[in-house]
Formats: sequence, C-alpha cells, structure tokens
Amino acid sequence: MSETKQARIFHNPRCSKSRATLTLLEENSVATDIVEYLKTPPSEAELDEILTQLGLEPRDLMRKGEAEYKEAGLDNPDLDRKALIKGMVENPKVIERPIVLMNGKAVVGRPPENVLNLLRHGATAAMAKQVARGVNLAGGEAVLRVVPPVSPDHEASAPAVPDAGAPYVELHDMRECEGLILGSPGRFGNMAAPLKHFLEQTSDLWLGGTLRDKPAAAFTSTGSLH
Ligand SMILES: Cc1cc2nc3c(=O)[nH]c(=O)nc-3n(C[C@H](O)[C@H](O)[C@H](O)COP(=O)(O)O)c2cc1C
Repeated sequence: MSETKQARIFHNPRCSKSRATLTLLEENSVATDIVEYLKTPPSEAELDEILTQLGLEPRDLMRKGEAEYKEAGLDNPDLDRKALIKGMVENPKVIERPIVLMNGKAVVGRPPENVLNLLRHGATAAMAKQVARGVNLAGGEAVLRVVPPVSPDHEASAPAVPDAGAPYVELHDMRECEGLILGSPGRFGNMAAPLKHFLEQTSDLWLGGTLRDKPAAAFTSTGSLH
C-alpha cells in the first residue's frame, strides 16, 4: 500500500523552529511544498482559511514583539478580523511561523513536534481492513478490534463503544480468537502507547498460557524506514 504525503509549510529559513519542523516532516517522508512567506506571503483569503483551520483569531497568530506590529498599527483594538488579516499579509514578519498544512488540517510548529499530529490519519486502520480482507479471502473469519486510547488526563475514561470503526478489544477476544494479527503505527521508534498499555493488561492470559500455539503476526505503518 503506497501513499503520497504532501504538506505545505510556511517557512522562514532563519528561524530554528521552522527549520526543526521542516526536518521532522522530511524525516517522516512527507513531501513538502515550501513557501517562504516573507518573500511570497499568503493571500488574504488563504490566511483567512488557515486561521479557520487552526481555530485561531488573527492576533493569536501574530508575533506581537516584532516592530512592525506597532509600526503598522496592528495593536489598534478597533481593527476587525478582515483588517487584521490585511495587515498580516502586508507585514508578513508579524505572522507566526512555521505553519504547516496537511490533509485539510493545520498546525503551528511550536513546538515542532506539533506536526506529528498531522501524521495520524488512519493509515494503520486502513491496513488492518486490508489484512482482515485477506483473512476472509483465505477462508478465515476476521474479527476487527481496536485498543482504547490512553488519555494523558487521569480522569478521562473511554466510552464503552468507539464513535467509529471497530469495537474496543477486550481480554475475552484474545481468549476466543484462533490467531492474532496486531497492527500499530510507529511512535518514536516503538509501538503506540495504547497497544502497549493493552498488552500489559494481559498478564493472566500469559500466565495461563492462553495464547500458546495461536498463530500470530504483526504489521506497522511508519513515516520512514526503520
Ligand atoms: C507521536 C508520533 C511519533 C511518531 N514517531 C515516528 C517514528 O519514530 N518513526 C516513523 O517512521 N514515524 C513516526 N511517526 C509517524 C507515524 O508512524 C506514521 O505517520 C504512521 O503512518 C501513522 O499511522 P496512523 O495514521 O495509523 O496513525 C510518528 C507519529 C506520531 C504521531
């Protein structure tokens, strides 16, 4: 399964955050359309659309410490969205950088690792569907399951049924299956935390030898070769 990943980056080569963001995209095999916005600023319509994708108001995306911010009168509280956007396009130095657009989503590369969120786009889920198709074509009966997300918020707990896609896996799925195929996106050179978290809850299955002799396979989707 091959896929072309294409991002547009509004880049300032003199900015270390912008350079680090570009490097991260390149390391993850994302083809980049580099816009040096100080030389070729976005149009007003384009910047308006970018702000909507970012969910930010114009001033949230401004470098208020730049001399141009005050010199161009952009600190005037009476300016509306349209006037602020016009001011940003005319004084591109005040636009925060780098901005990355990919798959209809946008992020500001502060920190540069923000761009990694653009790389979560269901590649592993798409592969899992193809794997399940193969199992069915070979006469098996594929049962697709997904691990619940791990929340950085201690209070959060996943709903019993996911909003979309395969149901959450439960330990009895592991007991009942005749074979197992695990898939995970690469996350910093490892499997994704939710899968690792789930596997660490399977001690009883391991101690009881429940999975012994079941055929197993694994697949992964990563940005670059490992
Ligand atoms: C937090 C995070 C860390 C990542 N780390 C790596 C990595 O170490 N190596 C790599 O090649 N890709 C890495 N990627 C890119 C993903 O593995 C890649 O985009 C994958 O296809 C995403 O699959 P998904 O769409 O199922 O989430 C990372 C992505 C994220 C979000």
